[in-house]
Amino acid sequence: MIKIAPSILSADFSKLGEEVKRLDKGGADIVHIDVMDGHFVPNITIGPLVVKAIRPYTRLPFDVHLMMDNPMEFVDAYVEAGADSITVHAEVLPHLHRAIHYIKGLGVKAAVALNPSTPLNVLEYVLGDVDMVLLMTVNPGFGGQKFITAMMDKIRKLADMRSTYGADFCIQVDGGIGLHNIRDVVKAGAEVIVAGSAVFGAQDIKGIIEAMRQEAKL
Ligand code: DX5
Ligand code: ZN
Repeated sequence: MIKIAPSILSADFSKLGEEVKRLDKGGADIVHIDVMDGHFVPNITIGPLVVKAIRPYTRLPFDVHLMMDNPMEFVDAYVEAGADSITVHAEVLPHLHRAIHYIKGLGVKAAVALNPSTPLNVLEYVLGDVDMVLLMTVNPGFGGQKFITAMMDKIRKLADMRSTYGADFCIQVDGGIGLHNIRDVVKAGAEVIVAGSAVFGAQDIKGIIEAMRQEAKL
């Protein structure tokens, strides 16, 4: 059963609490929170204060995606603010194994994200440690971008890698996903689907989430 994780990057930032409530009522499984520091990616978004402010609006898990140069300096703050899962980018962490175990030591799920050009083999020695792998299917920094078609094969390869190594992490995909391609990414092996513009661009959040679930049924 796939999980739909709308990204609040595409929400109305003047009423984020209400928007999170809309996701909850609309049947989302997870709230994907895109944190950007203006260095790792050319955009600045959400600090721990904001996560703390929206935490009371839903009991849905907060999946915090740290697109930052120095994520380990802020992991504690986001967990205290209410994160249930923390995603860090392999590209900025020479000590990835230690980072994963530090995050898990805080009692939350640990995920590793790879940018589109980053090869899967950086994960080879942490496949048994991560709870989730996030494959960026756009270059991170903005919502509303086009899915990079070469990523379809990368999803398949990650699913193969998981079975070859007998690992059991979830496969999450993020960027440019909507009704037009959700079936293909799920067929390729994606299990947690991040969608920002596809969800918040729709009038009826419940309707679009339901339609995405239907479309993803293989
Ligand atoms: C991009 C973010 C994504 C983005 C997805 O840097 O990590 O989560 O918000 O937005 P859409 O679904 O509009 O591509
Ligand atoms: Zn994201």
